Amino acid sequence: MAHGGSGEEIGRRALVLEAESRLRLCGVESPRREAELLLCHRLGVSRSELYLEGDLAVGPEDRVWLYQGIEQRCEGVPLQYIVGDVEFMGLVLKVDRRVFIPRSETEVLVDAVVAELADAASPLVLDVGTGCGNIAVALAVLVPGARLLASDISSDALDCARENAHLHQVGDRITFAQGDLYAPFDLPVYRSRLDAIVSNPPYVPIHEIGQLPREVRDHEPRVALDGGDDGLAVLGRLVREGRHLLMPGGLLAFEVGEAQADAVSELIGSLGPYGYPKTIHDYAHKERIILARTRSHRQTPRGER
Ligand SMILES: C[S@@+](CC[C@H](N)C(=O)[O-])C[C@H]1O[C@@H](n2cnc3c(N)ncnc32)[C@H](O)[C@@H]1O
Repeated sequence: MAHGGSGEEIGRRALVLEAESRLRLCGVESPRREAELLLCHRLGVSRSELYLEGDLAVGPEDRVWLYQGIEQRCEGVPLQYIVGDVEFMGLVLKVDRRVFIPRSETEVLVDAVVAELADAASPLVLDVGTGCGNIAVALAVLVPGARLLASDISSDALDCARENAHLHQVGDRITFAQGDLYAPFDLPVYRSRLDAIVSNPPYVPIHEIGQLPREVRDHEPRVALDGGDDGLAVLGRLVREGRHLLMPGGLLAFEVGEAQADAVSELIGSLGPYGYPKTIHDYAHKERIILARTRSHRQTPRGER
């Protein structure tokens, strides 16, 4: 390996520079930032602490960990898998190869759902395709009266989601179950009972998966990405198959891919029980969040014209 070796003394600052240059050589986009993040994570220090004590020698075990992390980054392993966590809605969540890494646009989805649930004292909410549990855990934390149901087809993902629910002390308000979309919760007790269905489903058209960055394409679970031929296979099923679970006036809230908002809105609008949906932009001003309510006393999502 081209690194300084674990026998030599090396200080924090010098190690960051060494890591930066290795990461730059293998094409990592923000090599200094990632070098700092890796070392800060391993040493449990902030960025300013790292440099304030920049001459402090880094122990051999920490150096070996860093060198291994750098090699993994060079192979395209996402930084979040190496450090083992990600921040979502201000919560630190465990992530690893079992799960899709939560993205910032999904925070827009959670914000919108929290606003929509403002009037409900103890809403019952289903999160379909929960992954690491980011949506379900964040909703449980942010809506203290809420009870959550969370499904995923991947039992590995559900294990991770349960760990995150436990970590944030909301495990007693979330029921996890493995299965295809609504199947685990398609029970008489839940029919016409849900206040909301939320999902960030797989929506990448299958022929586009090969063009994704290698971090995503080669390392994140394929089942979290694959939206079938047109990307809408799972979204279409979510729209069509969940209606009977929602109470009158119940909320459907989805994240969709770029350029999918019109198709999903039209599908929702074409089905009798829903009012025409409202779309919300993500931080990049793309229409990525869709909200619709089943027709009842309150026919439209908040803020719709
Ligand atoms: C894009 S990831 C989203 C994960 C997480 N909810 C988030 O927001 O980051 C989609 C998730 O849906 C799950 N999934 C894919 N197909 C499914 C199906 N037919 N039924 C249930 N879950 C499914 C995947 O395992 C994955 O965890």
